[in-house]
Amino acid sequence: MNQTETHPSYIALDHWGDYLEENTDGRWTLEIYPNETLGAQAEALQLVSDGSVELAIVSGPQLENLNKDFIALNLPTTFDNIDHQMKVLAEDEVVGELFNSLRETNNIVVLGGFTQGNRSVYTTFGPVETPDDLNGMKLRVQESELNLAMAEALGASATPMAYGELYSGLQSGVVDAAENNEVSYATQRHYEVAPHWSQTNHLVGLDYLIINSTMLDSMTDEDREIFMEGWDEARALHVELWLEATDDSIAQAEEDGATIHIVDETIFDEALEPLVDQFLTTDTQLEVYEGARALSEKDVE
Ligand code: GCU
Repeated sequence: MNQTETHPSYIALDHWGDYLEENTDGRWTLEIYPNETLGAQAEALQLVSDGSVELAIVSGPQLENLNKDFIALNLPTTFDNIDHQMKVLAEDEVVGELFNSLRETNNIVVLGGFTQGNRSVYTTFGPVETPDDLNGMKLRVQESELNLAMAEALGASATPMAYGELYSGLQSGVVDAAENNEVSYATQRHYEVAPHWSQTNHLVGLDYLIINSTMLDSMTDEDREIFMEGWDEARALHVELWLEATDDSIAQAEEDGATIHIVDETIFDEALEPLVDQFLTTDTQLEVYEGARALSEKDVE
């Protein structure tokens, strides 16, 4: 994984490892490698596919690069908030086929997800109140076609880059801005080099837990059941940890000198809205997207 040991995703996985060890008499446990020790997400994806690593946490855009249908869950308009996102993930009718779609082609099964919460824009130079403020600026995005288009729609020039390179990218001026959640902003200490956080809340992001399918199939039914029970616990713990970590992260960033700018979110929502029509082109994408939107509690759709 690419997060630090203080990030909720690490803590939740660590808990899962303990659960496995206790409940399988030590037959199974997890050895977790934080901070891209085994490579950035694009590499981790490959390692899980070829079986040299069993599990990885990867962000939605990485799976979009293997199967474009995942775009349906990567769009800025897919999820209203974390609750809605969790509801969608629990709905097998909506996500079941998609999560098994990489089995034949890549030996990968998606077991479920951790939220990335709301993503916002932060910069080295000042607040971003409208897309005009990003004009001519280089915005780091995750490596996917949708993310490139998102940067452009936000008014910036897009620079795809792995997460672990971003601190030095911001520091050296290779990029002027990035977008992420508060927890990443603080755990990666990006606020040291990009101290202006603008609360755009433009997208609720999603991380996936992926597993090598041969390894999943090789487990006994009993062990697989324990494995999934532990994963359910880890997911529940993650949700619990997330909100607190978000508050703590803002406090930490502010205390260490960052400025939080409250901006009009609707301007950014409107700028990103056209991506839906631009990127949803296949029947499966539309089906998954509409299935997800149908679980929204917003009145007007
Ligand atoms: C979040 C997310 C990661 C992702 C990162 C990024 O931190 O949890 O999975 O890699 O954003 O922007 O690259």
